Amino acid sequence: MNKPKNVTDTDWQLLKEKYPNKLNDISVLLENDYPVQYLIGNVEFIDSIIKVDKRVLIPRFETELFVEKTINYAKKIFKNKINIVDLGTGSGCISIALKKHLDCNIDAIDISKDAIKLAKENAKLNKVKIDFINKNMIDELDKNYDIIISNPPYIAKDGYIEKKVLENEPHIALFAENNGLYYYEKIINNHLKKLNKPGLMAFEIGDNQNKELEKIMFKNKIKKYKFEVDLTGRIRYLFIFNE
Ligand SMILES: C[S@@+](CC[C@H](N)C(=O)[O-])C[C@H]1O[C@@H](n2cnc3c(N)ncnc32)[C@H](O)[C@@H]1O
Repeated sequence: MNKPKNVTDTDWQLLKEKYPNKLNDISVLLENDYPVQYLIGNVEFIDSIIKVDKRVLIPRFETELFVEKTINYAKKIFKNKINIVDLGTGSGCISIALKKHLDCNIDAIDISKDAIKLAKENAKLNKVKIDFINKNMIDELDKNYDIIISNPPYIAKDGYIEKKVLENEPHIALFAENNGLYYYEKIINNHLKKLNKPGLMAFEIGDNQNKELEKIMFKNKIKKYKFEVDLTGRIRYLFIFNE
């Protein structure tokens, strides 16, 4: 069986070991753009192994950079143990990486019971303690936090999306009302009052959303914030500082 063109040698080797008798079926799936990560069953995220399947969004490289930037800010801002909430935790990748690199307690929220189940498995696999909560991220938070972090769904209902993503990854993880801005607006409106001083609100954002986000911040009288770019130079992160 020849390796399909869209798969790396390393991934093909892993698939041959995992599915020695099903390589024909696997090739057909891959040629039809089924995500290789779901077939392999896990991805590397910073220094963690994260199990993935169709219940959760596949963690992205941009999100690794997002978490690294958040860790750097946190190390500068906070001197003692901190409380973090991760809104829309999915596979748990963000929470798991933060827990390994910061002295913190973490609550991780997701509306999907299926995602929470997998995220719990991932926390166990990575030997970290995280409190998972199955609820809507826009509902009132039970306590105050030093960091509120989120990579929420941010694709506009009529926005561009790769066919491979649209056909395979959970739509609940992708789309948001109000041109993709719904969750940013709700999180800022509802949860800014739950951010300690000093405090950090960290968002992964969609390409070209910064101008609209500035309006939301203006309405909420947020003065200190910074947009940052990903490795391709696109504005993909927003950090809000409560000082
Ligand atoms: C873009 S994914 C991010 C997943 C993961 N944090 C990551 O960065 O790979 C967004 C996540 O938000 C969850 N979600 C969507 N709507 C939600 C809501 N109203 N309340 C809580 N979680 C929600 C989805 O189930 C999904 O896991």
